Amino acid sequence: MTTLVTGATGNTGRHVVAELVRRGERVRALTRDPIAAARRLPSGVELVSGTHNEPDTLGAALDGVDRLHVTVTSGLAEVGPDLVKRAVDAGVRRITVVWGGAVGPVEQAVAASGVEWTRLEPQEFMSNTLTWAGTIVAEGVVREPYDFPSALVHEADIGAVAAVALLDDGHSGQVYNLTGPAPLTPSERIAILSEVAGRDIVLERITHEQAVERLMSTGVSRADADYVIGWYAAPTADSTTVDPTVERVLGRPARTFEQWAAEHAARFRPA
Ligand SMILES: NC(=O)c1ccc[n+]([C@@H]2O[C@H](COP(=O)([O-])OP(=O)(O)OC[C@H]3O[C@@H](n4cnc5c(N)ncnc54)[C@H](OP(=O)(O)O)[C@@H]3O)[C@@H](O)[C@H]2O)c1
Repeated sequence: MTTLVTGATGNTGRHVVAELVRRGERVRALTRDPIAAARRLPSGVELVSGTHNEPDTLGAALDGVDRLHVTVTSGLAEVGPDLVKRAVDAGVRRITVVWGGAVGPVEQAVAASGVEWTRLEPQEFMSNTLTWAGTIVAEGVVREPYDFPSALVHEADIGAVAAVALLDDGHSGQVYNLTGPAPLTPSERIAILSEVAGRDIVLERITHEQAVERLMSTGVSRADADYVIGWYAAPTADSTTVDPTVERVLGRPARTFEQWAAEHAARFRPA
C-alpha cells in the first residue's frame, strides 16, 4: 500500500510522513522542492515534485496510491473538489484531511468523495509559538494583543492521529476535534518558555490593529489577517476547551506544551 502525503514538508505533514514511515508504510511525499524536502523527511520516502494546488499536474503522483492525506493550503479551496475526484478516479480508497480552520470546499469534497475519509479539526497548533522566537531571542519580549487561553495541540499529535486514521480501520466518516491537554494563555506559555530559554520573557500588549498590520507585513491578506486576529480576540469554546480525542485515538496522553518547548528550546535561545 502507498500513501500520498500532500503538504508533506509542513508543520503537520512531516509528522504524518514520520509516523507512517515509523509504522512501515510506503510513503510518497508531494513537494514543490524535492531537494529541500530530502533534507527534512526520513530516507526511504519517495519524493514527488508538484503541488496539490494544481491537481491536473498530479497524474504520476497518484499512480498506485491507495491512501491520500490532504493539507488545506491557501488557494486549495478552488481546486479541492477536482483534486479529490482525480484521487478517487486514480484508485485512492481512503482520505484524511487537516481542515483549514473551517469546513470549506476541500473538506466538503472529501466528505462527499464516496470513499473512506476522516477529517481532522485541530485547534491552535503549538508550532504557532515559533512566531515569537525572533523577539524572544532579540529582546526577551513577546508582543500580543490578547492573553486568552488556547488548548494548543502538538503538531506531532495531529500527524499521529492522521496516520492512525489512514492505516487503521474504524475511523471512516469521523470528524476529530484535536486539542492539547491544557488550555494555556500566552502568559502561561511565556512562563514555560522562560524556563527553557533560561531568561525572563515579558509579554507586552499591543493593539488589535497593530497585530493585524504585523500579520499583513508577513504577506497575509487583510481579510486573512482580520480573520486570524479576530479568532484570538474571541476564542471559540472548541479552541479553549480540552478535548480527549487525541488520547482516545492514540491510546496515550496528548503531548504537553512543556514537551513542545523542550523540543524547540534552541529556537528561543541566542545562537
Ligand atoms: N496554525 C494553526 O493554528 C492552524 C489551526 C487549524 C488549522 N490550520 C490549518 O492547517 C493548514 C496548514 O497546515 P500546516 O501548518 O501543516 O501547513 P504548512 O506548514 O503551511 O505547510 C504546507 C505545505 O504545503 C506545501 N504546499 C504545496 N503547495 C502549496 C501552496 N500553494 N502554498 C503553500 N504550501 C504549499 C508546502 O510544501 P512544499 O514547499 O514542500 O511544497 C508546505 O510545506 C492550513 O490550512 C491552516 O488553515 C492551522
